[in-house]
Amino acid sequence: MTQGAIPHHVAIVMDGNGRWATRRYLPRVAGHKKGMDALRACLRHCDERGVKVLTVFAFSSENWNRPPEEVSGLMELLALALAREVPQLKNEGVRVKFVGDRAALSEKVRAGLAHAEADTAGNTRLVFNVCFNYGGRWDIAQAAAALAARGEAITEQSLDGALALAHVPAPDLIIRTGGERRLSNFLLWQAAYSELYFTDKLWPEFDGAALDEALADYAARERRFGRTSEQLAPPARRAA
Ligand code: FPP
Repeated sequence: MTQGAIPHHVAIVMDGNGRWATRRYLPRVAGHKKGMDALRACLRHCDERGVKVLTVFAFSSENWNRPPEEVSGLMELLALALAREVPQLKNEGVRVKFVGDRAALSEKVRAGLAHAEADTAGNTRLVFNVCFNYGGRWDIAQAAAALAARGEAITEQSLDGALALAHVPAPDLIIRTGGERRLSNFLLWQAAYSELYFTDKLWPEFDGAALDEALADYAARERRFGRTSEQLAPPARRAA
């Protein structure tokens, strides 16, 4: 794979934790714990491959509707990630950002998120966006509301700049594991020209080899952004 074919920004819907656990007669939260292990490995693998931004969907605006023990299990995983993973990520040069509506989170968790972001703000090796209590519609609505409150005109450019992910370019590649072929309210605005990759693998089984398969699939795509193939071909190749 040539270096130029590596996506700058990879985003992932980490689906299938529940099924992974249920098939093993384990509680769903055990699947999320295993999913955390897969996420840790995936981040390191992305870094090795030269990906500069990784964005993951950890908790959607709709996930509050899950059984209370699963919601609290995911909150505990977030707290654990803040305590155990962030210091390690800091040492590895990763800048951590949390993307989503923080209003519904406890004051302690909100302080933890702010601390993690401040603590890693100077890192430049890889940006790691954790979408938590996030929804694409929420993001577009909050961006429009922020512009309206400031009396600014709503244009594609101004809205783009007011989104919660304005600190990174749009994802080049969006991966969804777990067999479903939909975005489920993830990065609705930013996905306009992203390449989509779906795999039946459940998230806890998504290992380095699976990521490489996704990257190879991406490398074989032709991204035209509304242009024709001929417009994209370099002049020498076009003449041949
Ligand atoms: C979707 O699988 C997965 C989630 C809702 C949670 C993803 C969370 C992690 C991978 C752990 C990392 C967490 C943090 C806080 C950083 P599902 O439960 O919908 O699976 P199913 O479709 O098989 O039921």
